Amino acid sequence: MNESIGLVILAAGKGTRMKIDTPKALAKTAGKCLLDYVVDASLNFAHETALKAEIGLVVGHKKELLEAWLASHPAKSQLKTAWQKEQKGTADALKACFNDLPHFWNYEYTMVACADTPMIRATEFKILFEALKSHPGCVGVAATFEAHDPKGYGRIVHGNHGFHIVEEKDASPKEREITEVNSGFYILKTKHVKEVLGSIGNNNKSGEFYLTDLFQDKYEVKAVKFPSEVPFLGINTMEQLADVTTLLRQRKVKQLMIDGVEFLNPNTVHIDEDVTIGVGSVIYPNVTLLGKTKIGEKVIVESGAFIKNSTVNSNAEILAHSYLDEALVHEDATIGPMARLRPGADIGPEAKIGNFVEVKKSKLAKGAKVSHLSYVGDAEIGENTNIGCGFITCNYDGVNKHKTKIGSNTFIGSDCQMVAPIQIGNDAFVAAGSTITKDVPDGGFGIARSSQVTKEGAAKRFLKTKKN
Ligand code: UD1
Ligand code: MG
Repeated sequence: MNESIGLVILAAGKGTRMKIDTPKALAKTAGKCLLDYVVDASLNFAHETALKAEIGLVVGHKKELLEAWLASHPAKSQLKTAWQKEQKGTADALKACFNDLPHFWNYEYTMVACADTPMIRATEFKILFEALKSHPGCVGVAATFEAHDPKGYGRIVHGNHGFHIVEEKDASPKEREITEVNSGFYILKTKHVKEVLGSIGNNNKSGEFYLTDLFQDKYEVKAVKFPSEVPFLGINTMEQLADVTTLLRQRKVKQLMIDGVEFLNPNTVHIDEDVTIGVGSVIYPNVTLLGKTKIGEKVIVESGAFIKNSTVNSNAEILAHSYLDEALVHEDATIGPMARLRPGADIGPEAKIGNFVEVKKSKLAKGAKVSHLSYVGDAEIGENTNIGCGFITCNYDGVNKHKTKIGSNTFIGSDCQMVAPIQIGNDAFVAAGSTITKDVPDGGFGIARSSQVTKEGAAKRFLKTKKN
C-alpha cells in the first residue's frame, strides 16, 4: 500500500507588509498566485514519490477569497481548508488543520509549507522526505540554509543530539550571529506531531505558539541544509514580489532554452510560468507570453508580440507588435505585423491576417486571407477566400450582434462592408467599394455602389490654384 502524507500549507497570515487587502497567498507572480506554486510543488512531490496525499490549507484572513480560489482549482478534490480563527502562531495554525480535518492524523507523514514561497519545487520536498526516510528513528526534518542576512529568520541551534530553533525576537546576541536559518518547511512523522503539538506553549516574546518547538535537541530530528536560499524565498513586500518575478522569469527562460527554444535576447522577454513553447521556435526580443498560452514547434514570434491565453500551432508566424487574447492560430498561419486577435478568433491553417486587422469571435478556414486594415467580427470565412483591404463586418446594430458568413474561394474587393446578418456564397465575387445588405449566392457577383460619371475637361473647375 502507498505511504500517505498530509500536506499542510499555512496561509492564514494577513501579509500586512504587502499593503494589499487580499490575502498575500493570492498575490500574483508570473501568471499564477503565490499559493498555486506551493500547491503545484506539493502535489508534484506527492505524485513523483507515489504518496497518497491531500492538502490542508489553513486559512484565516479573508478566508472566503481563498475558499473561492480553491473552488475553481482543477485539483480541488485533493484540497481541503481549515479555519484558524485567530492568528496565534504557526503551531496554532497546524492545530487548526487537525481540528477541522481530523482524518489528517491518519496520514503517516505531515508536511508543513508556507503559502508565500513561489520558488519552491517538488525537488526540495523530495530531498527533505528522503532525508527523513534515510534516518531510521528520525521523527522530523526541517529545511535550512545559510542566509546572507539571517535577520527575521529563526536560527538553527545545534545540540548534542538534534537541534532547536530560536526566533529572532527570543534569540540571545550570540544566537543571532548564527547564519543557518529555518526555512519554515518541514516533514514530520504525524505520530511525533500528535505527541508534541498539544504541549507547545506561548511563553515567548511574541506570545505566539511556535511550530518550531516541534524540534528539540531531545528528539530525533534533523536539519537538512540546502545549498541555496532561493527555493525558500518568501514574499513579504511588493519589492520582494518583483524580485521573485524576475527570478521566476529567468528560471523559465533557462528551462525553455534547455528544451530547444531559441531566444534572440532572453533578458527582455516575459514568459509566465504555465506557458509552453515547442522545440525549434524562435522568440525575438521584447515578447510577452502570458497565462495558459501554448506555442507549438518552429513558431516565430517577433518583437513586441503580446500573447495571452492563446494557442499558436506549429510553423505559424506572429509578426511584430501583434496582440493575441484567447485566440487560436493554426499551423502555418501568419499574423501581423500589428494585428489584433480578440477572444474567439480562430485562424485556420495557412491563413493570413495582415497589418491593422482586428478579428473577434470569427473563424477563418484554411488559406483565407485578410491582409490589410480590416475588422472581422462574428464572421465565418471559407477556404482560400480573399478579403481585400479596408473590409468591415457591420456586426452590431446597437443592441444585438449578427453573423457574417462568406463561403470558400470567394473574392471580396477592397473597401467593402457587410451589413450583418448576411451570407455570401462560395466562388462569389463582391466588387470593391460595396456596402452589401443583401445575400450573394454561390457563384454570384455583388456590387453596391453608385455608378461613376466622368466629364472631360471639367477638372479645372475644381482644381484650386494659389493666387500669388
Ligand atoms: C517562521 C518561523 C521561522 C522561519 C520563518 C521562515 C515560526 C515560529 N517561525 O517565522 O523560524 O525562519 O518562518 O520564513 O514558525 N501563519 C498562519 N497562522 C499564524 C501565523 C502564521 O497561518 O497564526 C502562516 C503565515 O501566513 C505564513 C506562515 O504561517 O504563511 C509563516 O508565518 P510568518 O508569520 O511569516 O512566520 P515568520 O515570523 O516568518
Ligand atoms: Mg514569514
